[in-house]
Amino acid sequence: MSRNYFFLFFLFLCLILSAEARAPFACDPRNGLTRSMRFCKVNLPIKVRVQDLIGRLNLQEKIRLLVNNAAGVPRFGIQGYEWWSEALHGVSDVGPGTKFQGAFPGATSFPQVITSAASFNATLWQAIGEVVSDEARAMYNGGTAGLTYWSPNVNIFRDPRWGRGQETPGEDPFLAAKYASSYVQGLQGHYNKNRLKVAACCKHYTAYDLDNWNGIDRYHFNARVSKQDLEDTYNVPFKACVEEGQVASVMCSYNQVNGKPTCADVDLLRNTIRGQWRLNGYIVSDCDSVGVMYDSQHYTRTPEEAAADTIKAGLDLDCGPFLAVHTEGAITKGLLTEADVNQALTNTITVQMRLGMFDGEPSAQPFGNLGPKDVCTPAHQDLALQTAHQGIVLLQNRPGSLPLSADQHPTIAVIGPNADATVTMIGNYAGVACGYTSPLQGISRYAKTIHEAGCIGVACNSNQQFGAAISAATHADATVLVMGLDQSIEAEALDRKSVLLPGHQQELISRVAMASRGPTILVLMCGGPVDVSFAKNDPKISAILWIGYPGQAGGTAIADVLFGTTNPGGKLPMTWYPQDYVSKISMADLAMRANPARGYPGRTYRFYKGPVVFPFGFGLSYTSFTHSLAQAPTKMMLALKNQIPNTNISKLHTNNAIRVLHTNCDSTPSLSLHIDVTNMGKMDGSHTVLVYSTPPNGAQSTEKHLIGFEKVHVSAGSQQRVRMNLHVCKHLSRADEFGIRRISMGEHIIHIGYDLKHQISVQVDLGN
Ligand SMILES: *[C@@H]1O[C@H](CO)[C@@H](O)[C@H](O)[C@H]1NC(C)=O
Ligand SMILES: *[C@@H]1O[C@H](CO)[C@@H](O)[C@H](O)[C@H]1NC(C)=O
Repeated sequence: MSRNYFFLFFLFLCLILSAEARAPFACDPRNGLTRSMRFCKVNLPIKVRVQDLIGRLNLQEKIRLLVNNAAGVPRFGIQGYEWWSEALHGVSDVGPGTKFQGAFPGATSFPQVITSAASFNATLWQAIGEVVSDEARAMYNGGTAGLTYWSPNVNIFRDPRWGRGQETPGEDPFLAAKYASSYVQGLQGHYNKNRLKVAACCKHYTAYDLDNWNGIDRYHFNARVSKQDLEDTYNVPFKACVEEGQVASVMCSYNQVNGKPTCADVDLLRNTIRGQWRLNGYIVSDCDSVGVMYDSQHYTRTPEEAAADTIKAGLDLDCGPFLAVHTEGAITKGLLTEADVNQALTNTITVQMRLGMFDGEPSAQPFGNLGPKDVCTPAHQDLALQTAHQGIVLLQNRPGSLPLSADQHPTIAVIGPNADATVTMIGNYAGVACGYTSPLQGISRYAKTIHEAGCIGVACNSNQQFGAAISAATHADATVLVMGLDQSIEAEALDRKSVLLPGHQQELISRVAMASRGPTILVLMCGGPVDVSFAKNDPKISAILWIGYPGQAGGTAIADVLFGTTNPGGKLPMTWYPQDYVSKISMADLAMRANPARGYPGRTYRFYKGPVVFPFGFGLSYTSFTHSLAQAPTKMMLALKNQIPNTNISKLHTNNAIRVLHTNCDSTPSLSLHIDVTNMGKMDGSHTVLVYSTPPNGAQSTEKHLIGFEKVHVSAGSQQRVRMNLHVCKHLSRADEFGIRRISMGEHIIHIGYDLKHQISVQVDLGN
C-alpha cells in the first residue's frame, strides 16, 4: 500500500517537473551535432540561420513542415510542432496545440471580443494581449501550449445573424483595425522587431462572415464583393493588422471571393498581403480549407493542382494534412518547384526563430521565467473584471431606475435562463476559466436574492416555469431578468435565422415586468444584437443593459453596474436592427452600400439609414457628458507629389477627388482636433469621444464614417481635453468603385458624437 503511494507520489513529482521544464524545441546545447550548425547560432542574423536550416533538409522533410502538425526532424534534433493554438480572449484549448492540465488547470478568461470592443479603449485591448501572452508563454514553458496563436478574428460583423459576430470587434472597419493592431501588439510584445513573445494571426482573410445560413455554408460560399467594399470595408482590419500591428501571420478563409478560393488567390495573398502590406510572417489556411477547395468546391481537377495553386498563391502553412500528402506529387508533375516550398518554409521558420524556438533552453530565454504562478494571478483576473466593467452598455434607463440601492432594494428577484450562467459568459474560442462569478452570485453580494430560471435554457420552449418567476418578481423589491442567447443559438457553423429573442423569452420578460413589484431591469447576455423593441417600448421595463458575453468575472461586473459601484461607459460596436430588416435582406449579399434601385437597404451605420433598435456607438451613463470644440482647422491644403507638378490637374480628378497616391501625404499637416468633454452630472465616469467624417456632397458616399475615438475618464463636474491627430490621406479618403482611394475636394463635415459638427475645406495646393 505505502509502496503504491510512494509510486503515485513519484509520478506526481515527475508530472510537476515535466510541466515546469520543456525540453528545447531545437538546438539543445547538449546536442554535440547541431551545436556547431549555423541555424543554431543565436548571434547570426535570422535570415542566415533560416537558409542554413532549409539547405540541410531533404524534400520529404520539408514537405512534412508544411502542415500544422509539423513533423520533427530527428537527424537535426528538431522536435515536432503543433502550430494550431488559439487565444481569442484568453488562452484557449480549441486548437490541439494547447491543453489545460497538470500545473495549468485554467487561464484568465476575458470577456468575448464583442464585449471588449464595446469599451472603445485601445489601451485596454493591448493590456489584455499582454496578459494573455504572459499566460501563453507560461504554458509554453510548462509544455502545455504552443507559441503560434490563430487569433484575433477581425472580420467585419456585417450581418447581425452571423454566429461568429461575437468573436469580432464589430461592424466598423476603423474600430476593427484599431482593435486588431492593439491586441496583436499586446500579444506579440513589440520589444524588438526580430523577436516575438507569441505570434498572433489575423483571420479569416477575407470577406468571410457567413457560417451556415439558409442552406449556404462557408465551405461552398462564393462571396461576391466589389473592389470598393473590399478596399474600404473588408480588408481594412487586415491591412492595419499587418501594417500597424506587425502581425506575424494572416489566415485565409474557407470561402471564395469572386469565384476564387482565398487561399489560392495570388492577388489576395502574394500581391496584397505580402506585396503591398509587407507581411513579415506566414500565411496559413483555415483548417482543411485546402482540402475543402478540392473536395467540396471542386475548384481544381486534381489534388496536386490544389497544392500547387495555394503554395504559388502565397500560402505557407496548411492547417490540415492536405499539403503533406499532395505537395510531392505536385512537384513530380512539374506544377510546383522545390524553390516554392523553400519560400514557404522561409516564412514559417523565420517566425519560429523570432519566437526563440531555435535558441536552445526555453528557460534561458526572454519570458523563460514565466510559469504556473503567472497564470490566473489576481492582477490578471482583475483585468478581466475591469474589461467587463468597461464593456457593459447601458441601453435604456427610465428616470430613477438605475442604479439600484441595497437600502431601497434589499431583495432582488434574479430571473432568466442566463441568471446563473458560468460557461455561457465566456462565449466561444474560450479556455477553462480560473473561476466564475455568475450574475446571481454577483448580485448576492449586494442583496438578498430569489432565483428562478423561468425557462429551461435560452431556447425557452415552454412557459411552464413562468408562474414561479412571476411569483418571485412580486415578492422582491426589484427584478433583474438575465436573458439572451448562448452557443446553442449563435456559434461557429450556426448563424441565426431571426434576431428576435428565442422561444418564449419575450413573453416571460413582459409577464414578469407586468407583475414586478419594483423596477424591472433587462440584462441581455448575447454576442450578436437582438431586436428588443418590445422591451424598449414597455414602460414597465425600467432599464436595459447589454453585457455581451462578459467573461469569467461577468457576474461581478453586472452587479457593480446595477448597484452603481461602476458607472457604465460602453458603447455598441454594432447596429441593432429590427427583425423586419433581416427578414428582407439575404445574408449572402455582401454589398455594403445601399442600392435603392434594387430595394437594397445597405449594411451597418455607414450605409444603412433605416430604422434601428439601437444605433452603432450608442450607450448611456449614470452621468451626462457634453462636448465642445476647443481647436480645429477650417481649411486643409493638400500637397501633390513632386513628379506631377506641371501635369494638367484635371487629369488627376474624378468627381473632383484626388488619388491618395498622387498626394504628398507626408508633407500634408495632420488634422489636429481638441475637444473638451464636460461631465455635467453627479457621478464620475468614462466617456468615449467618437469622431466621424462625411465627405463633400456628390462624392462616392455621403454617409458618415468613424475616423477616430478616444476614451477619457472625467470626474463629476469637471472637464477633460481630448487631443486627436487625424490625417487627411488616411481618414478623409474613400475608395472609389475601382477600389482606388481618393480624397474629395471641398467641404468635409466632422461629427463629434451626435451633437457637434464642424466643416473643413480640403483643397489642393497647386504651388503657385
Ligand atoms: C486640361 O485638360 C482638359 C481636358 O483634357 C482641357 O480641356 C484643358 O484645356 C486642359 N487645361 C490646361 C490648362 O491645359
Ligand atoms: C482604459 O483601460 C485601461 C486599462 O484597463 C484603464 O486603466 C483606463 O482607465 C481605461 N480608460 C478609461 C478612460 O476608462
